[in-house]
Amino acid sequence: MNFFWFISENFLETLDIADAGADVFRVPDYNMRSRVCAHNDRWFCFKERLVENLKEKLAQALNAAKSLEAVEKIRVDFLGRKGSITTLAKNTDFATMTAEAKKEFGQKLNELKNFAQERIAAALAAVQASNVHHKSNDLDLTAPGKGRRLGALHPITLAQMELEDIFQGMGFSVLYGPEVESEYFCFEALNIPHDHPARDMQDTFWLKNQLILRTHTSANQVRTLLRFGAPIRAIFPGRCFRYESVDPSHENTFYQCEGLVVDKDISVANLIAVMKTILSQVFKRDVKVRLRPGYFPFVEPGFELDLNCLLCGGKGCSTCGDGWIELIPCGLIHPEVLRHGGIDPKEYSGFAFGVGLTRLAMMKFGIRDIRYLNCGDLRVNEQFTTLV
Ligand code: PHE
Repeated sequence: MNFFWFISENFLETLDIADAGADVFRVPDYNMRSRVCAHNDRWFCFKERLVENLKEKLAQALNAAKSLEAVEKIRVDFLGRKGSITTLAKNTDFATMTAEAKKEFGQKLNELKNFAQERIAAALAAVQASNVHHKSNDLDLTAPGKGRRLGALHPITLAQMELEDIFQGMGFSVLYGPEVESEYFCFEALNIPHDHPARDMQDTFWLKNQLILRTHTSANQVRTLLRFGAPIRAIFPGRCFRYESVDPSHENTFYQCEGLVVDKDISVANLIAVMKTILSQVFKRDVKVRLRPGYFPFVEPGFELDLNCLLCGGKGCSTCGDGWIELIPCGLIHPEVLRHGGIDPKEYSGFAFGVGLTRLAMMKFGIRDIRYLNCGDLRVNEQFTTLV
């Protein structure tokens, strides 16, 4: 169907009549009904031809456009407020059309708009891509270099890696146990029954199904004995949790590095020799330590190995209190614990220790407040890049 199309005066300005050629012509509008027919002489064209004509013009213009600015100008010319497509839509006198023609031409207009939007977007992308390409060939030797930020390991990770290294050098295996633990391995298997007062010192976070967040890496002692038997030399570093109020030297989340040796004729002398070797290798200098009795239900005898505080030189500070810091609780493994691990205490004996890994990192790197370690502030890590 060839519908004539009424073209308003201002649309004539946007439409290049010469380009439209024979598709646009002047006819008297004697057969039009609405108010737009107030004047006699109007421009008309066949609407299908006009739409095609606009499409062609758009495609040609985009082909020639080589810059972002040029594409943008075409967008304004066609789709802008006064652009040809917008004007065409605005000036279409739908009132003079039949319902069928209205529908048909409405669709044509939409198609035209979509066609223009898609082509313009594609042209924009093409110009951008060629710009990038152009830039990458454009080597500017005077441009300042792009700095690369070096990642850093957390001080506790660094301390842990170093301890693992030292212990492996002494023939220890490195094992890891679960952070979510059963009450049995965390307490009962370690000679701490339900009503034992030692439980009060290690209150923790209780999960739903009788599981807990482990309060110490000692929870891995019996697991390890059951799994590997004796003789054994192993350490198990990891994260522990306690229901604790937080201050410069206490955290609800901290790290320990547990270790045990089970073999024939293991004595306190072996324990002390290993501890001395470890400390001299970690601190690489003489440090003052003291050994005093300590009570833990799973060792007998039990000790506290304290380190003379390296932050205050033993004078006393908010981290250590009295100048000494409890660094490595230890002792000979209680026969009951060996039994829980399926090992005959008449045949084997052993020692166990729990290095306070968080404290060790604080002493080693001079960190005065334990809260820095869990604060998630990258500025803490950033100070340790040189050690990676
Ligand atoms: N697990 C004990 C604690 O967290 C430390 C310890 C480990 C003591 C091994 C003795 C032997 O307090």
